[in-house]
Amino acid sequence: MDKIIVKGGNTLNGEVKISSAKNSVLPIIAASILSGNKCIIDNAPMLEDVFVISDVLRSVSADIDIDKTSNKIIIDTSDICDYEPCSELVKKLRASFLIMGPMISRFGKFIISLPGGCNIGTRPIDLHLKGFNALGAEVSVGYGYVEAKAKKLIGNKIYLDFPSVGATENIMMAAVMAEGETIIENAAEEPEIEDLAKFLNSMGANVIGGGTDTVRVLGVKNLKGAVHKPIYDRIEAGTFMVAAAITKSKIKVCGVNEEHLKPIIAKLTEMGVVIEVEGESLTVDGTGILKPIDIKTMPYPGFPTDMQAQMMGLLSSVKGTSVITETIFENRFMHASEMKRMGANIKIDGRSAVIEGIDRLTGCEVKSTDLRAGAALILCGLAAAGTTEVTDVYHIDRGYVNIEKKLQGLGANIYRECY
Ligand code: UD1
Repeated sequence: MDKIIVKGGNTLNGEVKISSAKNSVLPIIAASILSGNKCIIDNAPMLEDVFVISDVLRSVSADIDIDKTSNKIIIDTSDICDYEPCSELVKKLRASFLIMGPMISRFGKFIISLPGGCNIGTRPIDLHLKGFNALGAEVSVGYGYVEAKAKKLIGNKIYLDFPSVGATENIMMAAVMAEGETIIENAAEEPEIEDLAKFLNSMGANVIGGGTDTVRVLGVKNLKGAVHKPIYDRIEAGTFMVAAAITKSKIKVCGVNEEHLKPIIAKLTEMGVVIEVEGESLTVDGTGILKPIDIKTMPYPGFPTDMQAQMMGLLSSVKGTSVITETIFENRFMHASEMKRMGANIKIDGRSAVIEGIDRLTGCEVKSTDLRAGAALILCGLAAAGTTEVTDVYHIDRGYVNIEKKLQGLGANIYRECY
C-alpha cells in the first residue's frame, strides 16, 4: 500500500488548480443510465471512486470509455441488460447506491447488495427506499440485498426526515420518468444536487429547484444523451485553503465558486485568514495570527462535514480552545486519535471535540481512516516538525486528484512511496 511522506515546515506559494467535484461526477455517471444514449462528461476528475462507479455501470453492460489524457468520460448506456450490479464493486463504493434511482426509473427494477457500515458511521439508506416506495415501487430488503420492482412509477409528495444528499439525488433520478409530478420536501441543498439537476435537464428532464429545499420533478417520457462539465470541487478547494492557513502561507486557489465556499470562507475569515475572491479564484493569506473558533457541521449551506477533519488539523496548532461539533455522522472523529499521535491536544465528548491548540505538531506515522481524515493528516504533516508518514493512502486517492503533486507545485516537501 502506498504511503505519502511529508517533511513539514515549508511555506507554500504559487497557485493550485482545483478539479471537478467528485460528489457531482458520481451521481452524474449514475444518472447517465437514465438516458439510454451517449453522455459525455468533460473535465472529469480522474479518481478511484470515479473508476469504481464506472466499473459498477460496466457490470450491468454499460459501455464506458475513460480518457485520462483529456479527462473525458464517454458513457453509452443503451445496451444495459442486467439489473444486478456486481456486489464486490458495490461494496467498494457506497455511492454505487446512486444507480438505484436511475435503474428503477428506466427499467422498473434493480437488485443491489446492501452497503455495510463504513468508517464514519452506519449510513443507512432507509430514506432512499422510502422515496422509491412513495413513487410506487415495491421494495424488499433481505438476504443482504435490496430488490425493487415497479410496473409504473407515479409522482408523489415526499418529505425527507433528514436532508440526505444521496436520498435527494436518488429520488430525483427515480422521479424523472415517473408519471406526473414529484415534490421532494426538506431536500438537501448541496450544490452537487443543483449540478445533477442541470445534467438531468440537459438530458431532457424537467427538474425545478435542484439545490433548494423543495425539488419539483415533472415526469417526462424519455431522455436523450447530454454533455456536461461538472462544478468545481468545493471540498478540494477548502482543503487547499486550509493548507495555506496551516503553513502560514499565501496561495492562490484557482477553480472555485465563491457561493459554494461561503461556510468555509466564513470560518477561515473568523480565524483571521484573509481571503480575497477574484472571479473563479481565491487568494488565501494565512500569514497572520490565527484565532481559535467553534464549528458545527450542518447540511449545506452549513459548514460541511467533509471539511471537519481538515479544520481539526488546523485548529490543533492554533493557540487557544476550539470546539468542533459533528452533527451529520455519528463516528467521524477517527482522525483525532491519529492527530493526537502527532501531539495534538484533542478531547472527544460524544459528538463534540475540544481542541487545545499547541505550538507545533510533530511528525510520525499516521493512518488515513477515511478520505477526508487522510487529507487532514497530510495537512498536519505540512506544518509539523519532522517527517510524517501517512499510510492507507488509498482512501485519499478516492477523492483527491494528485494531491501530492498539487502540493509539490506549491512548494511542499511531499512525495509518495509506492509499494
Ligand atoms: C454525501 C457525500 C459525502 C458527504 C455527505 C454529507 C456523496 C457521494 N457523498 O454522502 O461526501 O459527507 O453527503 O454531506 O455525495 N441518512 C439516513 N438515512 C438515509 C440516508 C442518510 O439516516 O437513507 C443519514 C446518514 O446516516 C447521515 C446523514 O443522513 O448521518 C447524511 O447522509 P447523506 O446526506 O445521505 O450523505 P451521503 O449522500 O451518503
